[in-house]
Amino acid sequence: MAGPRIVRKVKALRAAVAGWRRRRARIALVPTMGALHLGHLSLVRLAGRRADRVVVSIFVNPAQFAPHEDFATYPRTWTTDIAKLAAAGTDLVFAPTVAEVYPEGFATRIAPEGPAQAGLEDRFRPHFFGGVATVVAKLLIEAMPDIAVFGEKDYQQLQVVKRLARDLDLPVKIVGGQTVREQDGLALSSRNVYLSPDERRRAPTLIRVLGESAKAIKAGEPIESVLARGRSAITAAGFALDYLEARHAETLKPIASAKDGPIRLLVAAKLGATRLIDNLGV
Ligand code: PAF
Repeated sequence: MAGPRIVRKVKALRAAVAGWRRRRARIALVPTMGALHLGHLSLVRLAGRRADRVVVSIFVNPAQFAPHEDFATYPRTWTTDIAKLAAAGTDLVFAPTVAEVYPEGFATRIAPEGPAQAGLEDRFRPHFFGGVATVVAKLLIEAMPDIAVFGEKDYQQLQVVKRLARDLDLPVKIVGGQTVREQDGLALSSRNVYLSPDERRRAPTLIRVLGESAKAIKAGEPIESVLARGRSAITAAGFALDYLEARHAETLKPIASAKDGPIRLLVAAKLGATRLIDNLGV
């Protein structure tokens, strides 16, 4: 099987996309940081069903990591990533260097508000959405895709990107791809490799609590009592809980009662040194 074409320069990406456009091809972009697992590949396959040409970007974006976070040690698995992308159907991989994305003198940063300031991930990673919004805006402007696919696993990020595309009038449809899970329910994540065997056994607590909480809210139990029970269960399983919240599924604003929905439940917690996030619709 022929592998995808690999380009490292914005100019080469633009030339490839322009050629496809002349032939009226519909183009999809799947932005990633590499370390690809089945969750990413399901996004690539979704992109392939919705477009004629699929571009996958691989760029570990330093702007979205705080100094104490895992930028230096973030898993980088280039050779296997390219093999997986070839099998999943990728036409082009855009893998720029840090200097290509942030050249000498780079001085512009997008400061997203709204869902980026919902008091969820932004409370624990204040630098994160500015870095994500800046790189995603650049990628969308560079590739000018018809659609761009992002995983629902990073639910707040998905809402931030949808808002960004709308607010900047970018002519792209942002599509959310469903979270892919292990058999025991754990959401696939590049960071799952950090879990010890004992932590891995306890990790599915998050999706179990989300599922039980969604069921209880649907059955009419008051949201705050459901969340209080869920928070205790997560802490009892040995996690350090950052948040378990019920929010409006689009704006991510706090929600007091089920009638103000649609509701999305969102959780983030640390197991040892590994921070896990997950979410579920009610
Ligand atoms: O979700 C990710 O992998 C990253 O945040 C993204 C969207 C590729 C931006 O760097």
